[in-house]
Amino acid sequence: MQCGLIYMNRKQNILVVGASGAIGSALVRQIAQANVRIGLHYCHNHEKAEMLKQEIAALSCEGILLQSFLDSDQACADFAESAIHKLGTIHALAFCGGKIDWIPWQQLDESNWQQTFFQHCVASVNIVQKLIPSMLAAHDCKVVYLSSISPKYGGSAKTLHYAAAKAGLETAMLGLSRQFCKDGIRINGVRAGFVDTPLQHEGRSAEELVERVAKIPLGRAGKPEEIASAMAYLLSEHASYIQGEIITVAGGD
Ligand SMILES: NC(=O)c1ccc[n+]([C@@H]2O[C@H](COP(=O)([O-])OP(=O)(O)OC[C@H]3O[C@@H](n4cnc5c(N)ncnc54)[C@H](OP(=O)(O)O)[C@@H]3O)[C@@H](O)[C@H]2O)c1
Repeated sequence: MQCGLIYMNRKQNILVVGASGAIGSALVRQIAQANVRIGLHYCHNHEKAEMLKQEIAALSCEGILLQSFLDSDQACADFAESAIHKLGTIHALAFCGGKIDWIPWQQLDESNWQQTFFQHCVASVNIVQKLIPSMLAAHDCKVVYLSSISPKYGGSAKTLHYAAAKAGLETAMLGLSRQFCKDGIRINGVRAGFVDTPLQHEGRSAEELVERVAKIPLGRAGKPEEIASAMAYLLSEHASYIQGEIITVAGGD
């Protein structure tokens, strides 16, 4: 379902990192419209990305597939280069990618920390670094990051490293937003609560899931579309005076 938000009159190229995921694909469905071309990033799930491409084609929205494991400087540089090559100037960038490695904190080693920080914090800054020259030339561009409420309480015993990486992402997001205030680049974030997606099911038993959901003040898990709506809003003209903010969408959590 489209949310009918206003985008600029000019043709927009929007890059969605993690478009094959639950929240990323919900975002793509909400922003898909005729004057938008969307770069659909995926890691493993080519089939899902291809299906999404066909789905948005029915709305006269062109989707361009981009595969990458964003796990190193080189991978991020190659990804950004390929995105510019296939899409041209990126006017808007949304980060919805990343997995959780559920590891008890007592067992965390250097490589766990490095991989998690790279995936959830460093990669997003790296990609912006590479895209910024063309964004500066285009003016009026937007970036939206997807964080989590986990930094608020430090994550669980198996997600402490993930919570720390998301806290790093929020700080980096704020820093970047200040760097580019005068250049017409809006950079904001969404802090999602518990959303019922495969990512949550991978790390919790059925009982743990029920227990977690019971703690949410609104009494239910969030839906991917509810997170995507906030991201789509931040990418739209309705959010033209919002800069360096993080909107929490967490059912009161
Ligand atoms: N679900 C929640 O409760 C929740 C709450 C707060 C924040 N978030 C954040 O939301 C984002 C997406 O979560 P989701 O629930 O939509 O999960 P999901 O359905 O599992 O989607 C994860 C997405 O990330 C991609 N991905 C996997 N490894 C990656 C890597 N190394 N670099 C970049 N992208 C990678 C996946 O690609 P393939 O499928 O093609 O491999 C997929 O597109 C994550 O950043 C997560 O931290 C989720």
